[in-house]
Amino acid sequence: MRRAAGFLLVLLFGLGALALAGYAVLDRTTAAWFERDLQLRSSLAVQSARRSLVRNWSDRSNLTAVLQDITRDERILGAAACSAAGELVAATQGYPQEFPSAALERRLAEGTAGEPSWSTTADLPMGRVHVSATAVAGEVGPLGFVVLVHDLSFVARREATTRDLLLVAFFVLALGAAVVTLLAARVAWRGWTSELRKALSGGPAGSFQPLVRDVRSLAERLARERHSEAGAGVWGADRLRAALKQHLQGERVVILANREPYIHERTKDGIRVQHPASGLVTALEPVMKACSGTWVAHGSGSADRETADAMGRVRVPPGEESYVVRRVWLTEAEENGYYYGFANEGLWPLCHLAHTRPIFRAEDWEHYVRVNRKFADAVCEEVDSDDPIILVQDYHFALAPKMIRERLPRATILTFWHIPWPNAERFGICPWREEIISGLLGSSIVGFHTQQHCNNFIDSVDAYVESRIDRETRAIVQGPRRTLVRPYPISIEWPVHWLEDMPSIAACRALVLADLGLADDVLLGVGIDRLDYTKGIEERLLAVDQLLARWPEFRGRFTFAQLAAPSRTKILRYRELNERVEALAKEINERWGNASWRPIVMLRSHHEPPSVFRHYRAADLCYVSSLHDGMNLVAKEFVAARDDEQGVLVLSQFTGASRDLTEALIVNPYDLQQSSAALAAALRMPATEQRERMQSMRRIVSEFNVYRWAGRMLVDAAELRRRERLSGRLSSPSGATSGESA
Ligand code: F6P
Repeated sequence: MRRAAGFLLVLLFGLGALALAGYAVLDRTTAAWFERDLQLRSSLAVQSARRSLVRNWSDRSNLTAVLQDITRDERILGAAACSAAGELVAATQGYPQEFPSAALERRLAEGTAGEPSWSTTADLPMGRVHVSATAVAGEVGPLGFVVLVHDLSFVARREATTRDLLLVAFFVLALGAAVVTLLAARVAWRGWTSELRKALSGGPAGSFQPLVRDVRSLAERLARERHSEAGAGVWGADRLRAALKQHLQGERVVILANREPYIHERTKDGIRVQHPASGLVTALEPVMKACSGTWVAHGSGSADRETADAMGRVRVPPGEESYVVRRVWLTEAEENGYYYGFANEGLWPLCHLAHTRPIFRAEDWEHYVRVNRKFADAVCEEVDSDDPIILVQDYHFALAPKMIRERLPRATILTFWHIPWPNAERFGICPWREEIISGLLGSSIVGFHTQQHCNNFIDSVDAYVESRIDRETRAIVQGPRRTLVRPYPISIEWPVHWLEDMPSIAACRALVLADLGLADDVLLGVGIDRLDYTKGIEERLLAVDQLLARWPEFRGRFTFAQLAAPSRTKILRYRELNERVEALAKEINERWGNASWRPIVMLRSHHEPPSVFRHYRAADLCYVSSLHDGMNLVAKEFVAARDDEQGVLVLSQFTGASRDLTEALIVNPYDLQQSSAALAAALRMPATEQRERMQSMRRIVSEFNVYRWAGRMLVDAAELRRRERLSGRLSSPSGATSGESA
């Protein structure tokens, strides 16, 4: 109804504008016609009386009688005879007093010389008149002019009538056109919807052919979601478990990820369990707890071997065992080549736009291939059917999907790439680009955080390997195999279990401020990261420096605490970054600090989740300044931690999270003017605005939590399996590997 009213309004305005323009043109044209007509009539009247005029030109009273004769036409108000110099010779009674005016005399003297006639219009007290002068010549030469004054008021009357008629015609026309158009649109709409309905229920798709597939899959997904939503509320562990049961008949999942969720470390106080600083672990651990199954990972802890069985298996989480971690042991040379070398000196800088040159060494690549095989074998040992669901994680395992596929052709392999995928040109510098892509194409689905990364991946496939890109279904087709490429923006658990026993916000704040030796009324900012050059930690500290330089009010009042977990320290660039960050923090502290206040507090050590969440809760702002980041879960954790709906998130536009958390203060971390201004705005933001922004971000994170992320991937996997099973029944068993119908 609203759409129809809008349409009607547009139509009426459109037609109204057209009618006005038409009226203006018509008005001008008819006025010109009338004038030309009057000029002609004047000239005719004078010509027909020419003889009498010539004969009586020198006799004033006879001349007046002749002029009187001419004015018998009711529209001629008066007539006059003028000498060639413009002096009045004779005039009728009705000839307006105003003529010959000085202006007319001048016109007659200047303008009509050599012309047979001349005319103009003038506004007189009696109304609008048309004045024309026609030259009269005798036997011996020109005598003068006859000036005729025509009444023009009838033109105004006609114009008014024309305008009224036009308005009525426009109104009737507009109404008629609107009714006819609405009726036609209604009929066409009915036709389209019934055609679309028929097409969706299996009939011929006709002109909707390209749309039908998309609409059908959307409708199926919505139906599936609604079905599994019945009474389930938001996505949570229970709902994910139920979805797994319903869609995958309770099948367990096997996760392959380099980093293990629980690291057993030997310390002087005995063996301690450590939770690694890893977004991947933050996201996947709750999923694993909900689904059960096996997590295959590198056993990297100093006490990992003694806490696992002979096969490297250990049940976790400690004290509430619900799934298994299968540890794979690597030699130092393997770890150096595969993890530090190819993965973190090659692929990591290749995929992040952070101005660090990738290093590709042939021996690192050999280790990468060998270690991928080792992990793929471990995965195949952990599955309990010939068509398991396997979730391969991250850039450490680009080759594993193909290797697993070779051993388990019927497996459903979902690979998630946790870091950005660069554009094809940049990716092309990798000497083993074809192998990496082919390895990933062993997957049933390859997932990224954003559509942009999906597009980059598809472009890279297009540029470097033989394949067909099916843009309609967003799939890569290689012979009988098909790999779907999809965005699945990752998230965190909701509610966060670390918050269950957390002290109140005020208590957290008091604890943190006491720990850091800060005054009670300090304004506190936090940054929480692995010490990695992609996180923009230097830019972050420089923004604090600028803040203090530009707004002295924050000197002595604002402190930024940077929790930085040392990471990949065997790599020279990470060690150099450590030193640079340390030196910069010192320099800023020396510039602005004093005996009782430091603007930067650097905490360069691993922090367990309870400490991390305490800092989130204590802070007035959290600044995530990544130069490039697939998602960044620190941003989402900060939001989850703030159940008081206070605190401001300042977030780099180069994180995947900035697409979800649009109520954060989004900044370009390279732009220190902008980011320091955002820090100032965050520190001055009124509580009501903080609440509005935080409420909205909390809604997003709670709704789009990691259970939903996993649920979507698993439901897609289930759908793929269902179709593969169906097509497997119809074709040969080997055909079942194709997933062709997906
Ligand atoms: O962002 C990529 C990633 O693998 C994350 O998934 C994880 O948070 C981080 O790197 C951890 O790195 P690492 O396992 O090398 O410590």
